[in-house]
Amino acid sequence: MSLTDLGAEVVKLLPPEAAHKATVRALKAGLGVPLREPEHDPALAVTLPKSGLKLSSPVGLAAGFDKNCEVPAAMAKFGFGFVECGTVTPRPQPGNPKPRLFRLTEDKAVINRMGFNNYGLDYFVRRLKAYRGAVPIGANVGANKDSTDRIADYVTGVEAVAPHADYVTINISSPNTPGLRGLQDRSSLEALLSACGKADRAGKPVFLKVAPDLDETAIADIVSVVKKEGAWLAGLIVSNTTLSRPETLQSGHKSEAGGLSGAPLFDLSTDVLKQFAGALDGAFDLIGAGGIASGADAYAKIRAGAQAVQLYSAMAFEGPGLVQRIHHELLHCLHADGCGYISDMVGADL
Ligand code: FNR
Repeated sequence: MSLTDLGAEVVKLLPPEAAHKATVRALKAGLGVPLREPEHDPALAVTLPKSGLKLSSPVGLAAGFDKNCEVPAAMAKFGFGFVECGTVTPRPQPGNPKPRLFRLTEDKAVINRMGFNNYGLDYFVRRLKAYRGAVPIGANVGANKDSTDRIADYVTGVEAVAPHADYVTINISSPNTPGLRGLQDRSSLEALLSACGKADRAGKPVFLKVAPDLDETAIADIVSVVKKEGAWLAGLIVSNTTLSRPETLQSGHKSEAGGLSGAPLFDLSTDVLKQFAGALDGAFDLIGAGGIASGADAYAKIRAGAQAVQLYSAMAFEGPGLVQRIHHELLHCLHADGCGYISDMVGADL
């Protein structure tokens, strides 16, 4: 066990939010952080066609781990091919009352109802400007809970972060800001994409992050609005956490309110990803997230149509050493299929 993984074991003894805070603080101080980014096998390199993002590994860090853009360079050194910070809202806000983060250990899952706790755009942009890491950085923007004009919040966020980020994510799928997911509805989404389409994006690719709790009609609506009002978008991130509670859940925390992530989200988010991939037919980039804990999981998302993937929850259980394990397993999956490059497997199951 490496020192970093040992540290992760010790941190797990703390309540989840305190553990997370301690981890970010330790990373900020450089504790347990590898000296430099690992070199990735060229077989893992991907270029996302529409956004033009060039990644040395398709495995990225999902939003929510580093809400205030404090440790993106440290996370890159654990081997992530890209890191996404945020969600950041225009003004700082405290989020929901604690406790608001729960480990479902038996289920390898997490429930959170953080509610976009963050220091606001000014702080975030200062940190973003200071980033000198070797991998692309994404900035994930949201709306303040008490905002009177949420669409204006997204425009403000996009314009503030775009000049300093490699890509931007418009997050309309957090279940913990009341009404936010309503922006995925046809007319609201049209208005949002029309406004953000006119925003000054500094030429940077913009992704839209969606929920996994969408039926066929909702998916078809999003696809048609994205094609019509969102032709300027680079792609979609599928998906955020789920409000659903699979019957298989064992943990005593299973009925806590909030978004469920980790292993029990894998099937649902992969199925929704596949539906988007089928309907969008290569016209937009797709980043798959939800329940990835192994190379086989990442490989399945890629085969379902994702050019790249992201993870968060599994790291809470396994520590950051997980990233390099996933790379080894991904290469193993590729070799087992007799395939030379991960990019050749995108959409293989469609
Ligand atoms: C998240 N996630 C998230 N997503 C986002 O767009 N903005 C955010 O601020 C957060 N915050 C957040 C906090 C916590 C504690 C968790 C566990 C998750 C969602 C995350 O980025 C990802 O989409 C899902 O968690 C699914 O991936 P995993 O965790 O199953 O690998």
